[in-house]
Amino acid sequence: MTRPASAGAPPLESARAAALTAMERAYAPYSQFRVGAALVGSDGSLFAGCNVENSAYPAGICAERSAVAAAVAGGVTQFDLLVIASEADDPTPPCGMCRQVLVEFAPRLEIVSYTKHGTHAAWNLAMLLPQPFTPAALTHHQ
Ligand code: THU
Repeated sequence: MTRPASAGAPPLESARAAALTAMERAYAPYSQFRVGAALVGSDGSLFAGCNVENSAYPAGICAERSAVAAAVAGGVTQFDLLVIASEADDPTPPCGMCRQVLVEFAPRLEIVSYTKHGTHAAWNLAMLLPQPFTPAALTHHQ
């Protein structure tokens, strides 16, 4: 985890750099599709993750959930921004499983995804996962 100095780069640029670095460290020998992610905490903290694949394919984890795990382990559960970097030609949105994990902590999370060409797309998690299943649902059962 890094805590950008207030006089340093703005959160988007810091997170983009962290996502790119994490992408380069991804372990993706099976798909050859490297992904990096960087979560900016509401306190300005920054947590990176990458996809880590496994020879038992379902045991692999996406970059976004890897970043969430790093943040939670670092004591941060409130997020303002997620930046994704991938080697795709088009900006990669988080997969469905990652959307579900992200909505637990930040239902209106801002997400920016960069390609290897430097192009990007931006979404709000509420756009990507309408009518989510959230912790509130568990408090309303019999
Ligand atoms: N992957 C991610 O890390 N994030 C996404 O949002 C989409 C997919 C990874 C999982 C797998 O290691 C590889 O990309 C191909 O699906």
